[in-house]
Amino acid sequence: MPKVTYFSGQSLPLEMHKVRIIQKLTLLPIEERLAAVAKAGYNTFLLENKDVFLDMLTDSGVNAMSDRQQAAMLLADDAYAGSATFTRLHSKLREIFGMDYFLPAHQGRAAEHILAKTYVRPGSLVPMNYHFTTTKAHIVEVGGEVLELICPEGLSVDDPGDFKGNFDVAALDRLVAERGAESIAFVRVEAGTNLIGGQPFSLENLRQVRASCSRHGLILVMDASLLADNLYFIKEREAAAAHLSIPQITRAMADACDIVYFSARKLGFGRGGGICVRDQEIYKKMRGLVPMYEGFLTYGGMSVREMEAITVGLDETMDEDMINQGPQFIEHMVSELDSYGVPVVKPAGGLGAHVDAMRFLDHLPQTQYPAAALAGAVYLASGVRGMERGTMSEQRNPDGSEPMAHMELVRLAIPRRVFTLSQVSYAIDRLRWLHANRHLVGGLRWIEEPEILRFFYGRLEPIGDWAQELVAKFRADFGDSL
Ligand code: F0G
Repeated sequence: MPKVTYFSGQSLPLEMHKVRIIQKLTLLPIEERLAAVAKAGYNTFLLENKDVFLDMLTDSGVNAMSDRQQAAMLLADDAYAGSATFTRLHSKLREIFGMDYFLPAHQGRAAEHILAKTYVRPGSLVPMNYHFTTTKAHIVEVGGEVLELICPEGLSVDDPGDFKGNFDVAALDRLVAERGAESIAFVRVEAGTNLIGGQPFSLENLRQVRASCSRHGLILVMDASLLADNLYFIKEREAAAAHLSIPQITRAMADACDIVYFSARKLGFGRGGGICVRDQEIYKKMRGLVPMYEGFLTYGGMSVREMEAITVGLDETMDEDMINQGPQFIEHMVSELDSYGVPVVKPAGGLGAHVDAMRFLDHLPQTQYPAAALAGAVYLASGVRGMERGTMSEQRNPDGSEPMAHMELVRLAIPRRVFTLSQVSYAIDRLRWLHANRHLVGGLRWIEEPEILRFFYGRLEPIGDWAQELVAKFRADFGDSL
């Protein structure tokens, strides 16, 4: 894609779309934000959207649709079985990934449920570059064990590596030598590795994982939920792939895999998901679980309207101008924050900007959930809703002990094509202020800790009265500004 050079010499993202539908937003005064976050137990998942100014919780199911997607929704074919809408979606997936079979599911974790139930047995190992919360929950639920074989730089918040989501292939070979291929249910690669800052893997690395799987007779599964960002980074950063088009890179990635599953809340800018399968036997093994848990084989829990939108969204994902807005906005946000000394995961990845709470709040121990505390403080300072991606997102061990996360991050997701650059500038400004006042931010403790996926609906409270102090400092610095 040709880039636009500015006369000013600045490097700014430039949207290749215009806004045609808008939604009004409200920015509450900070005192009301304090009441809202306290009511939510300092868990940003429990905030009500009416109290949120910029919702940067996630890019899941909240990306803006294109006019073509909206138009396609009107043409959906309502039928329980054999809908033309499903045929269109299936054909598009076959065209993009080159796999013949498709199992629809209501969203990404439903695909993970089906995969785990089919392949994972008590004691099975599932090596992967890095886990995602729902992936791990489904594997552990059926007695399996997740092994994270991420390249060492992947766990460094500021290693400048281009492909920090790369799989440690030598570690996979060692694992097979030590534990035997029969102990491994499948190997999983996650595109745009979510929990370590949306970091991509390279096409070359994926091909090496494939070679290792082929040597050992292992099934290779790709989680393509964040594929769009990973495609952009391969195109931009991997010299050996620079001559390939986005559809060619996509096909090369799929060709390395046996199974590709995805959350269409991300990939395809809609709401749904599914599993693409190359081999008929593998397809048949999983097929029965779709009508049992999701819905009939031609909708799998998705509405026909969403399936139409996903079909068009997948087509548009093959156009670099349609997928570059997210990574370019994130790059801008990360480099601005970095220039002001706010600690962020570098280089910029996909999904969103990731603030490093371990360094931002280096006076807090991990047992006081620095990432959760920072997410609460960001909301207070700005009305921006981010997401804790640290120890609070981990699950306790069966013996009740608490694993400390590798990283304590606050993710500020950039839902694609939703926010303007001035809104992003506002978020950057408030983060700068918060960083200058970081010593005021204290830790959190549980008041209600659920056993499963505690980060979704657990409640915490501040240790001490730091939240009130932060509000007072905001008023002193900003007067009556919102
Ligand atoms: N895999 C990855 C890499 C994901 O990012 C997600 C969801 C899933 C699987 C599960 O898909 O939500 O459709 O069931 N990520 C969301 C997020 C929740 O906010 O990052 P789902």
